[in-house]
Amino acid sequence: MIKIAPSILSADFAKLGEQIELVEKGGADLLHIDVMDGHFVPNITIGPPVVECIRKSSKLEFDVHLMIENPEKYIDNFVKAGADIISIHVESTKHVHRCIQMIKKHGIKACVSLNPSTPLEVVDHLLDDLDMILLMTVNPGFGGQAYIPAMTAKIESLKKKISDYKKQIDIQIDGGISVDNIYQVTKAGANVIVAGSAIYKSDNVADTISKMKELAYRW
Ligand code: DX5
Ligand code: ZN
Repeated sequence: MIKIAPSILSADFAKLGEQIELVEKGGADLLHIDVMDGHFVPNITIGPPVVECIRKSSKLEFDVHLMIENPEKYIDNFVKAGADIISIHVESTKHVHRCIQMIKKHGIKACVSLNPSTPLEVVDHLLDDLDMILLMTVNPGFGGQAYIPAMTAKIESLKKKISDYKKQIDIQIDGGISVDNIYQVTKAGANVIVAGSAIYKSDNVADTISKMKELAYRW
């Protein structure tokens, strides 16, 4: 099943609660929360206190994408704040395996994220422990960037790797996805689709989510 994960990075933060309700009622499957520290990526966004606040008013699965250095320092805080899934970047810590164990210890889903230029081999020894792998299809840091076409082949290779391994691991895609290219990534093997600007900057959020779900199967 294809899942749509709207990214609140492109929401209007002055009315964040309403903006989350909009996608929750509009058919979102997960809520993608982009955490940036101004070091791992050249942008700063939100931290655990905001996650804790929005947790009170939403039942959506919270998919927390940590684009921060040394994520091991903050995993416990984000779990306490209400994360259901935590993604850490393999490029952001010397201790990827340790971070995954820290996440799993809390009984929530663990995911690793790969920048566009990071080769897939880095996940080889982690497959047993992962619930999801996030392939960045833009360089992380900002919403509204263009999809990098070379990522389609990378998605296909990851799909093959996971099929060969014979384990169910979700393939999440993040960056530059819209109604115009969703079929391309789902055809390649992705099943959890993040979209920020395509959803929040559209005229009708619910229509865009349902259109994305419909087009995801049209290939
Ligand atoms: C980028 C973030 C994305 C971002 C995607 O670093 O990880 O989640 O919100 O935005 P769009 O869908 O606009 O490319
Ligand atoms: Zn993200």
